[in-house]
Amino acid sequence: MPRLKTKKAVALPTKLPKIVAFANQKGGAGKSTGAVHAADWFAKQGYSTVLVDADGQQSSSEWMNELKLNYEVISNPEALFDELPKLAKSHDVVIVDGPGNASEVTKAVLIRSDLVLIPCRDSMIDLASTGKIVQFVRQAKEIRGGLPVAAIYLNAVKDNTILLREAREALQDGLLPLLSTSLPDRQCIKDAPGQASTVFRMKGESPRIVSDVYSQLLIEALKLFEAES
Ligand SMILES: Nc1ncnc2c1ncn2[C@@H]1O[C@H](COP(=O)(O)OP(=O)(O)O)[C@@H](O)[C@H]1O
Ligand SMILES: [Mg+2]
Repeated sequence: MPRLKTKKAVALPTKLPKIVAFANQKGGAGKSTGAVHAADWFAKQGYSTVLVDADGQQSSSEWMNELKLNYEVISNPEALFDELPKLAKSHDVVIVDGPGNASEVTKAVLIRSDLVLIPCRDSMIDLASTGKIVQFVRQAKEIRGGLPVAAIYLNAVKDNTILLREAREALQDGLLPLLSTSLPDRQCIKDAPGQASTVFRMKGESPRIVSDVYSQLLIEALKLFEAES
């Protein structure tokens, strides 16, 4: 897909997903934070990007509005089913911020997405409760013969806590891959919406480090998509 040349652009796989969703039936996992950061990151890479806020709570659309980035609020399953492909035609990348429940909305999003990223807090309870979303993804993959490519990533990891190896064991069946990049628990990530910002736009050492981790996470996910799709 064509993209504007920007100074910040990094080397990305040539085959990119059109619709990227952040999903997990648990609230507070990091979907909205991940979706808004992904939208800002793709926009910074020079892609025309729109975020679809599919969560009735509309936290990401308010944040997108303050960032002056494109967004739409669509939280009805039939409208999502119909509108996501249209938005994918008129933009390079569509980011979807999913709701915090296992609903028809989540199913519509999974049926239309190319890549699904599942943020998960690094507690054993949260890891053990990924079952529902994993089941939904498996069903969507069966219906569509492979897509969406999906992966779990650990979010808000406290220093020196869970190891990736332990996390993999806690993810019961291992049906979906766990990305090797995880996001740390950092105050600058919490502060971003209140400052009408993202870590990519904030000044200081911590936002700079977290920006690099976000880039690494997204590039790892895009490479997985290229390899699996
Ligand atoms: N890596 C992180 N470090 C620190 N705080 C985080 C991190 N990820 C998310 N948060 C905070 O956790 C809360 C829930 O995140 P949010 O993205 O709204 O979750 P969801 O959309 O899944 O409900 C928010 O207050 C957010 O700022
Ligand atoms: Mg949310």
